[in-house]
Amino acid sequence: MSILVTGAAGFIGFHLSKRLAALGYHVIGIDNLNDYYDIALKKERLNILEKSGNFDFYKMNLSNDEELKPIFEAYTITIVINLAAQAGVRYSIDNPHSYVNSNLVGFTNILEACRHYHIEHLIYASSSSVYGANTSIPYSTKDAVDHPVSIYAATKKANELMAHTYSHLFNIPTTGLRFFTVYGPWGRPDMAYYTFTKQIIEGNTIKVFNNGDMRRDFTYIDDIVEGIIRLLGHPPLYNMDWDRNNPDPSSSSAPYKIYNIGNNNPVKLMDFIQTLEKLIGKKARIEYLPMQPGDMKETYADISDLQADIGFQPATTIENGLTQFVDWYKKYHI
Ligand SMILES: NC(=O)c1ccc[n+]([C@@H]2O[C@H](COP(=O)([O-])OP(=O)(O)OC[C@H]3O[C@@H](n4cnc5c(N)ncnc54)[C@H](O)[C@@H]3O)[C@@H](O)[C@H]2O)c1
Repeated sequence: MSILVTGAAGFIGFHLSKRLAALGYHVIGIDNLNDYYDIALKKERLNILEKSGNFDFYKMNLSNDEELKPIFEAYTITIVINLAAQAGVRYSIDNPHSYVNSNLVGFTNILEACRHYHIEHLIYASSSSVYGANTSIPYSTKDAVDHPVSIYAATKKANELMAHTYSHLFNIPTTGLRFFTVYGPWGRPDMAYYTFTKQIIEGNTIKVFNNGDMRRDFTYIDDIVEGIIRLLGHPPLYNMDWDRNNPDPSSSSAPYKIYNIGNNNPVKLMDFIQTLEKLIGKKARIEYLPMQPGDMKETYADISDLQADIGFQPATTIENGLTQFVDWYKKYHI
């Protein structure tokens, strides 16, 4: 059985492809290896995947429909996991077109391929950022998410709407996963946990926004991968109980489901920094700044649906997860 993983050279795509290949699945990875962050890191992840076997890689841009078709012609793909996207909230303020091209045009091409090649299950990355201006905590997939505060979040919300249309019109089972601040070895250099580690080690000042008054539901990469693996064989069914007079936004009469996938245990930003200081053995120099445009003060995932449906239970504490990350960082960079 072949599984297509888009964004395979990315942080989550790399870990997921590695685990899938180790489990004996044939993984077809695609990625355009763009330079949003260090391409060398993406290439090193790919080297590891290519050495470990059960993995074929194609460098291509999702937004180019013509490049995608031959892959679906060449292999019998049953499951598609779409992780390729232009990620990052802050970058989206000044680079909206990159988000439209990868996250909207690219996702349309994936949906069309799923339609024409009869894919049994499409799993795709959404984001906690869709909760935007919501204030009800923990964030629940039963809540409306109609107030995104960045174009990144708007494209992720759009992906959920587009997926619903394809589930409804063409009976494609689709599962959208709202990831909550994923971290771990081989992580993303644009994210705060990575830049903080770098700056603390190098003795540079870290920028802490909203004067440190933030909480994040940091989720360790292995827990995310475990959740996705468990979902492979659980495509959503037509929900016969779905009530159009009182519609649950996370479900549908079509084979469509949205889950939060987070740690369900938010950490105060200043506690997070203290844990990093302890692990690195050095005090951070901190510049306190006001809230940034597009940012959210808090993220906290209600994961009750994922617990009920697949027994998802994140197993990694922030101390253990950051220990793994800092150890990897030192080996990789120092
Ligand atoms: N890491 C997180 O905390 C987090 C949180 C919420 C959502 N997400 C989402 O999860 C997914 C994976 O995130 P990640 O952290 O691994 O990010 P990443 O940037 O490391 O991985 C994304 C990969 O997609 C590739 N890509 C981008 N546009 C492409 C295109 N048009 N065609 C082909 N490849 C393309 C990039 O080169 C990159 O390797 C993304 O959709 C992201 O928005 C991640």
